[in-house]
Amino acid sequence: MPKVTVHRKAHFNAAHRLHNGDWSDARNATVFGKCANPHYHGHNYELIVAVKGEINPVTGFVMDMKVLKDLIEVEIEEKLDHKNLNEEVEEFKTLNPTAENIAVVIWNILRTKIEEQLELSVTLYETPRNFVVYTGE
Ligand code: NI
Repeated sequence: MPKVTVHRKAHFNAAHRLHNGDWSDARNATVFGKCANPHYHGHNYELIVAVKGEINPVTGFVMDMKVLKDLIEVEIEEKLDHKNLNEEVEEFKTLNPTAENIAVVIWNILRTKIEEQLELSVTLYETPRNFVVYTGE
């Protein structure tokens, strides 16, 4: 069967602060710029989840998009939307919540919920112009 990639877009707002506790405030400000603000700041994150696999001959689907939509809502949006990532999300208590690390956390969660034979890719926009892609490598 042909392999097709299906995509689902989602959205969440979250606050964060980028910080390395081993560094001085000055070095944090130099490396992380505005994202080092100790009072936090928000981003409108745009998420695109891509699932690639063979079309199921019975359903005609690679993956039921309703299932994928619900999975993203329950596992990702409820966990991250309107949260302070540093303070409220377990994974980021010890991990800097950069777009890169957020994408990896999202991928790791979804990977356990999507059938193994399907390939998973997570694209995360932190701003309209800055985005990262993680495919599990
Ligand atoms: Ni930021």
